[in-house]
Amino acid sequence: MNFHVLTLFPNLVTAGLSGSMIGRALEKGSIRINAVNIRDFTEDKHKKTDDYIYGGGAGLLLQAQPVYDAYKSVLAGIGAGRKVRTIYLTPQGRTFHQGMAQELAQEEDLIFLCGHYEGVDERVLEQVVTDYVSLGDFVLTGGEPAAVVMIDAIARLVPGVLHNGDSVMEESFSGYLLEYPQYTRPEVWKGERVPEALLSGDHKRIREWRRQKAEERTRLYRPDLYAAYEALMQCRRDLLQNKLHHMDMAELICREKAELLYHDGEGTLLRERKSGTLMITVKSKEAGERILDAFLAQDGEIPKLLTAKQAFMEEVIEKRLHMTLSTCDVQAVYTRKEAPPIKPHDIRQLCTAHLEMVLQHYDLADEAYLLDRLSNGAVFGIFVENTLAGFIGEHAEGSMGMLTVFPAYRRRGLAAALESFMIHRTLQKGYTPFCYVVEENQASVKLQEKLGLYMAKEKVWWYENPHACGGEKISSKNNGCK
Ligand code: ADE
Repeated sequence: MNFHVLTLFPNLVTAGLSGSMIGRALEKGSIRINAVNIRDFTEDKHKKTDDYIYGGGAGLLLQAQPVYDAYKSVLAGIGAGRKVRTIYLTPQGRTFHQGMAQELAQEEDLIFLCGHYEGVDERVLEQVVTDYVSLGDFVLTGGEPAAVVMIDAIARLVPGVLHNGDSVMEESFSGYLLEYPQYTRPEVWKGERVPEALLSGDHKRIREWRRQKAEERTRLYRPDLYAAYEALMQCRRDLLQNKLHHMDMAELICREKAELLYHDGEGTLLRERKSGTLMITVKSKEAGERILDAFLAQDGEIPKLLTAKQAFMEEVIEKRLHMTLSTCDVQAVYTRKEAPPIKPHDIRQLCTAHLEMVLQHYDLADEAYLLDRLSNGAVFGIFVENTLAGFIGEHAEGSMGMLTVFPAYRRRGLAAALESFMIHRTLQKGYTPFCYVVEENQASVKLQEKLGLYMAKEKVWWYENPHACGGEKISSKNNGCK
């Protein structure tokens, strides 16, 4: 991942990020910092980058020209054609939090603009900035310390930066809770013993103890976080009243990909953090109208995709969100704790070098989406005599999908092997495997039943935003789980 920082003080940025884990990640090349000196781009012969404020007022403002040219030089370096998130650090922005760090860690490039003096000319901010972000209700002398803090928090979520991948999953805010207390040797120090549960060797007991302590701490120190956590847990319990129909939504919460936009006894609206996909389930059309009106009143952004769990929502969604019904699936859920038996097969994680091959055989998503899945290590290939014969993947919102076996290799049980592998992998992470299938695709339905998945009785309706392009495409032309 590449962090580009537009600043008048590049050494403040590089020095702030040179030590410890981030320093090592820089050496390894898992991340790169490109600190760009705005002063190098000024057209002023005295190298001036700031000037007085029109209309009066104390201090100076950064001028538009050097900032804009520095920004353009970064875009040119990245290669044109892609939208690049550009963050302006300001006390007036949205407050930075772990969810935002997780979302930003998915980007390939991020640009940070550090203001100084009294700020930056508004005209250039309007041209380049996509996100206004603050570290909190206090004022720093410049954006550099804030950029360093944000880069540190984002970089450690990039695969390969931390030694222990699990530590990201298990800690503080990642699990909506503060971290539980931890202990190291000796077992007794100043008469204080390490809690007995942690010495028991019983993993279930240890997990329960940790969760209980994490909840206690969060309730005590961060009642705001605890309230959000409780709301999510309640929402998940309610959704699981109808497990088969709502597993995708419940799993979004469980996998920490969900933003809870609305929930009460009448309905639930969730947003997938990364793609912005909305998921809605409601008891009545009126509840659907009310929830979507509330969403729009809060300036909710119309996403590329939306799934609804009730057919009667069609008119409501088309009228309010101007999204069009595209296709309809059923959800299949694997409810057992043990994976189906796997016969030995040569299944390996695919990488971006396989993009062409995947694109050739799978037409339900565009190149950028498949590239994202491949670079996230979410696509697996099955090899027969060292030749790729098919693949399966995990979609951005968590469903198993993209199941494809190349024509020459069909009728050999490779689809079942791939899906069993994926079920196994999902269970290992502590999640519930699920996928979407087209009801008319009898081969796919049969495969799900054979592997022990249960099909929901109700359907899922997918809506697309006709004005958005890219991402997952919705169609019903593939031969396995979508
Ligand atoms: N620049 C100045 N103050 C700031 C703050 N509180 N957060 C982010 N950037 C800033």
